[in-house]
Amino acid sequence: MHILVTGGAGYIGSHTCILLLEAGYEVIVFDNFSNASKESIKRVEKIAGKPITVIEGDIRHREDLDKIFDAYKIDAVIHFAGLKAVGESVEEPLNYYDNNIHGTIVLCEAMAAHGCRSIVFSSSATVYGEPHTTPIKEDFPLSATNPYGRSKLFIEEMLRDLYISDPAWKIVLLRYFNPVGAHISGTIGEDPHGIPNNLMPFIAQTAVGKRAFLSVFGDDYDTHDGTGVRDYIHVMDLADGHVKALEKIESFNEVMTINLGTGKGYSVLDMVKAFEKASGKHVPYKIAPRRAGDIAKCFADPSYAKKILGWEATRSIKEMCEDSWRWQSNNPNGYAEEIVGVAEKDPRVNHS
Ligand code: NAD
Ligand code: UD1
Repeated sequence: MHILVTGGAGYIGSHTCILLLEAGYEVIVFDNFSNASKESIKRVEKIAGKPITVIEGDIRHREDLDKIFDAYKIDAVIHFAGLKAVGESVEEPLNYYDNNIHGTIVLCEAMAAHGCRSIVFSSSATVYGEPHTTPIKEDFPLSATNPYGRSKLFIEEMLRDLYISDPAWKIVLLRYFNPVGAHISGTIGEDPHGIPNNLMPFIAQTAVGKRAFLSVFGDDYDTHDGTGVRDYIHVMDLADGHVKALEKIESFNEVMTINLGTGKGYSVLDMVKAFEKASGKHVPYKIAPRRAGDIAKCFADPSYAKKILGWEATRSIKEMCEDSWRWQSNNPNGYAEEIVGVAEKDPRVNHS
């Protein structure tokens, strides 16, 4: 079976490609490399010992997609491609709506035109906005507080409408909680450009000496130690969720919306401690003001994924930190070759 993986060179896509290859699928990665390196694919091929067809192109360009669908009989699409930085989405909303929403429309049009109607879409726990309680179930009310989150919400709605218009579509919406960690080989992992927005890459870069300290955004939340609580999930568990979704997709007769999380919540300071233990490195931190738009607690009820997909996360917080550290310490500059100095200040925080 041929699986088209949009955004397959990125963080979650590259890890998923390994499991797809291992499961015997023919993998075609389609990526514009706006936030990825070609090196990630080379390393995935090495890990899996199998080749990947890589096509450079943009999901917003119909002719790029048509070429693939004309050349291969694609059985299903896993759609990772998109932009994902919340702060940037506030500054560049049209770019986000264009990439994420317009891109998904063009992709679905190309799929339908070529008789491919099976899609697994990367949604996010961000669609729950500020949940009234935890753990979060799939039927909780939805909302969004920024263009990135709205793009995910709109795409979910759009895909539901598509199914109503034509029930031949097989659609799985996977709502990820907080993906962290890396493949156990330490050869692929998350490689954020510039200053990481997310906690784990920031901690890892601090431990490796690229950043002087971590800013902890708020210590006065209503949580066990005052810092924000999240459901961190190992990226290989997440990858496995996609393979399980593909295995089941043909049997679904409705749009499936599924949380992928562990069901456990860890605070920022829990993560710092776990990372220090896993890496043997000190992670200096300073308490900073709350980050706008952050919520106190967010973790999944993952029981539906277990029931429907037979999937559950198996990797511990220790493995998440150890695997992140292996990737970070082996590749202090990610996939790039250049040496980057230590940043003494966190430019995201006002130091005056
Ligand atoms: P990533 O940026 O590493 O991967 C996205 C990939 O898509 C990149 O390789 C990028 O080059 C490619 N891309 C972007 N725009 C494209 C376009 N127009 N045409 C073709 N390729 C394009 O991000 P990721 O962390 O791997 O996330 C994958 C998906 O999961 C995204 O849709 C993201 O919104 C979603 N998601 C991520 C997280 C997270 O914390 N990482 C959480 C929830 C949801
Ligand atoms: C963020 C996004 C969310 C997106 C998700 C995955 C925001 C407001 N939300 O979620 O939409 O789906 O990433 O990409 O950006 N923290 C620090 N210091 C840091 C970084 C983070 O203390 O340098 C804290 C945060 O306040 C939070 C926790 O760590 O409590 C996790 O933050 P992060 O990794 O950015 O994920 P989310 O905020 O859950």
